[in-house]
Amino acid sequence: MPGSSPQPSAGAHAAGPAIIRVAGPFDLGKISRLHRACFAEGWSRADVAHLLALPGSFGLVARLAQRGFPGLDNLRGAGFALCRVVRDECELLSIGVVPTVRRRGVARALLLSAMERCRLAGAEKMFLEVAVDNVEAQALYAIHGFRTVGTRPNYYQRLDGSRAHAYTMQGDLLLPDNS
Ligand SMILES: CC(C)(COP(=O)(O)OP(=O)(O)OC[C@H]1O[C@@H](n2cnc3c(N)ncnc32)[C@H](O)[C@@H]1OP(=O)(O)O)[C@@H](O)C(=O)NCCC(=O)NCCS
Repeated sequence: MPGSSPQPSAGAHAAGPAIIRVAGPFDLGKISRLHRACFAEGWSRADVAHLLALPGSFGLVARLAQRGFPGLDNLRGAGFALCRVVRDECELLSIGVVPTVRRRGVARALLLSAMERCRLAGAEKMFLEVAVDNVEAQALYAIHGFRTVGTRPNYYQRLDGSRAHAYTMQGDLLLPDNS
């Protein structure tokens, strides 16, 4: 219907300002491009393929839930998340949103979708690493209940060869028991 919001395709769901869907084998190049747009140390298609081949891994891709025709830029994707579930724990391996559409709630939608999917797969806790100077991402995690549980010295290697410390953060996925 002209002027109406686009309907998410099968397997995708609208999450606030974004439409989130689970990544498939044809999304490896897209996720690699999105990762390179978000991180100086971008991952190759092979890096992404390797991660998604690990048992319990999955990826999410987001595009903006625009009215009308989404447009080529939007079809290329707004953001991504990569996760891995191992028994009752899971890890957020990476998350990113392209710079042109930041502060519109896309990362929030991706994180909430990732947390819910991991919870449904049996995970009770989510862990992640974040650079100590990445205050934007730390703010995102903090408002979703994550807290710092450790520090990993020299965890990241930057392009200039320098090392950066990381915080390990943990979030609880179980719903509060109100019974
Ligand atoms: C961190 C990142 C994923 C946030 O994506 P985003 O789509 O802009 O985030 P959202 O719009 O969903 O923001 C959700 C909340 O996170 C916090 N936040 C996000 N960006 C922020 C910023 N630049 N400064 C302060 N807080 C910020 C805010 O609390 C925000 O809520 P608000 O907008 O209502 O204040 C994005 O900046 C990014 O891709 N950065 C580069 C890659 C990266 O660092 N990934 C995380 C690695 S651990």
